[in-house]
Formats: sequence, structure tokens, C-alpha cells
Amino acid sequence: TDTSADALRTPIVAVLGHVDHGKTSLLDKIRGSAVIEGEAGAITQHIGATAVPLDVVSDMAGELVDPDDFDLPGLLFIDTPGHHSFTTLRSRGGALADIAVLVVDVNDGFQPQTLEAINILQNTQTPFIVAANKVDTVPGWNPNEDSPIKPSYDAQSDRVRGDVDDRLYSIIGELSDQGFSADMYWRVQDFQNNIGVVPVSAMTGEGVPDLLAVMMGLSQRYMKEEMAIDVDGPGVGTVLEVKEERGFGTTVDIVLYDGTIHEDDTIVVGGENKPIVTDVRALLQPRPLAEIRTESRFEQVDSVGAAAGIKVAAPDLDEAMAGAPIRVVGDRDLDAVIEEVRAELAEVAVDTEEDGVVVKADTLGSLEAMADALSEAEIPIVRAEVGDIAPRDVAVASTAEDELHRAILGFNVDVLGDAEDRADVEDVKIYTDDVIYQLVEEYDTFVEDQRQ
Ligand code: GTP
Ligand code: MG
Repeated sequence: TDTSADALRTPIVAVLGHVDHGKTSLLDKIRGSAVIEGEAGAITQHIGATAVPLDVVSDMAGELVDPDDFDLPGLLFIDTPGHHSFTTLRSRGGALADIAVLVVDVNDGFQPQTLEAINILQNTQTPFIVAANKVDTVPGWNPNEDSPIKPSYDAQSDRVRGDVDDRLYSIIGELSDQGFSADMYWRVQDFQNNIGVVPVSAMTGEGVPDLLAVMMGLSQRYMKEEMAIDVDGPGVGTVLEVKEERGFGTTVDIVLYDGTIHEDDTIVVGGENKPIVTDVRALLQPRPLAEIRTESRFEQVDSVGAAAGIKVAAPDLDEAMAGAPIRVVGDRDLDAVIEEVRAELAEVAVDTEEDGVVVKADTLGSLEAMADALSEAEIPIVRAEVGDIAPRDVAVASTAEDELHRAILGFNVDVLGDAEDRADVEDVKIYTDDVIYQLVEEYDTFVEDQRQ
């Protein structure tokens, strides 16, 4: 075994995109193809993530990837369900993901959550490529299972290729409208300044070899230095979800991006009111071959090193927040670690004004993104918190001096029944949406209507 502490960790790849554009199917395809190639044991299913080691990437990508060219161990893909905000994927100083795949359905083009994802990638300066998915649905497409895309594309009839090009160029055009220079990936030399578009099909596997090759190349070329970590150091991660789990109480699903976490470790987790100090009772991973979305039984492990997705069971996690940091104390001073977590939480603290709207969001990351969007739109905020819209939020909104500020903007949250009734009585407007810019637009429209 490797005894040196410094090692290169697996790059974390976020898979983002609009609902139904094929994020999960793409990951299923990668897992499925590996199973067929007899590599099932090599791909490990994590909580909320899939680890694909370099030899599997290289088997699947064929001549596109020569494992000798790489020393990064593979890729860790994080799937983000469409209804979930990608903004949870934050870490100290920015994005949790090192790189991202933006999945766009070639027939559907850019949709609200595509734009949302782009905004977030832009704000966090996360390098990404676009997977132009579902090319197999272009009428007349002649499938070529699991082939790299170029030969498959070249083998189509002129008419089909023309139809594919129309769709791809419209995606390239939309990227350009968002300020990105983009092109077919095989024409891109500099992936840091240009977005590569990879035509793929999660159904037939065409283009998947290319996608893996580009992701691997991109991480190796631009991320390698950031991947050097002290694997034996105290674990550092981000909470993706806070979940009730039968037999374990409240647990947190985390992505560990540095160091190692062990059973019985003392950890500090960002909580709604203050950092939570607790001890790890169990570290849980899905059972091998368990389907990620339906897994109900876990396997307990003693320790996990970065990068990994893992479920942490520990007492007192009820107030843990999605998007918050989690840190292993190790042999350091507990107060110092609490201070680190507090400082990280303070980074996301929103600047508030005397008079403004009330903002509620589902995670720390989305609260941060909402605050950014509102500040850009010059809309002041009086209070910003993680959580559902409750009567006390209405009480705060109702004290606004400016009529236009008698409003609550909720991102990805529920409106509690009493809050709704109270808002009616107090004449407070409540806006909710699961796309940030739409939420801001709705409020802007209200403001414009009032001013007329
Ligand atoms: P959410 O998690 O809900 O955001 O969706 P998703 O992006 O994970 O999409 P998902 O993978 O669930 O795919 C949505 C639908 O599109 C499913 O019916 C898939 O079978 C279909 N689909 C995905 N990729 C392809 C593809 O490449 N070709 C074809 N023909 N269908 C696809
Ligand atoms: Mg999905």
C-alpha cells in the first residue's frame, strides 16, 4: 500500500442540466457499459456519486485515452437531479466540483435550468464541457453502439448530418449568447477558454468515449495541482443532503473533497444556528450494485478518503444544512475547527439592509446565489435564511416601510400553510420558483406593475 501522504485525488465532476435532458441516463450508461466490459467491480457506487477509475475510463474510451498519459486516479461523477439546486455543490472558496458536464438535449436546446447551471458555472469559474445528448433521436440517425462520435457522425447520411449540425450550432449559438466561445469539441484546442460541445447518446453510448476522454484530459491538464492532497489528513467535505434514515436518525450525505473521515471521528458540521459538534456513529455506502436512487440498505465502512460520496450517521444532525461544510477535528484543537466552520458559514452570510425583501432558500449555496442575483438586480434584502417560508417571515416582510418590499422570495422551498394565510391578511406577496432568475423576474414584474 501507498504510505506517502501526498496523493492525487479523483477530480469531482458535476453533471448538470435541465430536467429530463439525460444526466442520470448518461451515468447509467457509463456504469452499464463498464458492467458489460467486465469492469463492474471497478466502478464503485458512492452516495450521490459514481467513481470511475482510470483503467475503466481507458477501456471505455479505447484509443482516445492512453492510461500512461495520466496520473489522476479517475473521475468522480456527481449526479444532480433536475429539481435540486446545483448551488448545493459549493465548498470553501467556490465550487465543490472541479469540472462539470452540462447536459443539453439536442432537441430541446437551452432551457431555464440550463441557463441557471451556466450562471452558476460562470460565477464559480468552473470549467465545463457540454454533452449534446440524445443525438440518436435525430430522425434517420443510424446508431453505432458505444462508438466514439466522430466516426459515427461521419457515417450518417448528408441529410442526417445536416440536421445534427443545425442542432449543435444552435447550442453553440446559445453558448455564445451567454458569452462563451464554443465549438465542436474536436476543434477545440484550449479547453480553458473555449467550451467543447460533445455530441452523445446516453441511449446508444455514442460519444461517451469522447466525453470520458475530454473530462480526463481537462482534469489532467488544468486541475492536477489542485488534486494534490494530504490523503491522511482530517476529512473536509460539503453536506449535499440532510436525510432521515431508518435506524440511523438524521444523517448527512456528503462529498468529501480532502483528507479522510473515520468512524468515531469528532466532526464539526455547519448548522442552522451554530456549528454542530458530534461524533461519527457510522459511515455508510450503498451496497455494491445497489441502484443509487432506490438504495435502502447500506454497507458500513471504517473510513473513506477523498474524493468520495458518503452518508454520515451521527447524533444531533437535525439542524445540519445542505451546502454547509463538514470537517473532521482529528488531533487539532476543537475550538479552532469550530472557528473554521464558523468562518466558512460567515462567507455565505448575506449583506442585509434596513429595508428590503425577505429571502428563503433550500440550501446555503442557493441562498448565496439568490443574494448574488438580487444584488445584481439592485433589490435590497432585509433577511435571508435557509428554510421553508414560515409565519415569522411574513411578520418580518409586513414591517417593510417601502410597499415594494412587502415580499418574500422563496427558492426551492415550501410555503407553510399558516404563512400563506397570514400573508393574505398582511398583504405580503410570496413568490416561489425553482429557477433563480425566474424568481427575480417575477418579483421585478411586480415592481414594474406597481410603478406604473
Ligand atoms: P432529472 O434527474 O429528472 O433532472 O432528469 P435527467 O436529466 O437525469 O434525465 P434522465 O436520465 O432521467 O432521462 C430522461 C428521459 O430521457 C428518460 O426517459 C431517458 O430514457 C431519456 N433519455 C436520456 N438520454 C437519452 C438519449 O441519449 N437518447 C434517448 N433516445 N433518450 C434518452
Ligand atoms: Mg436524473
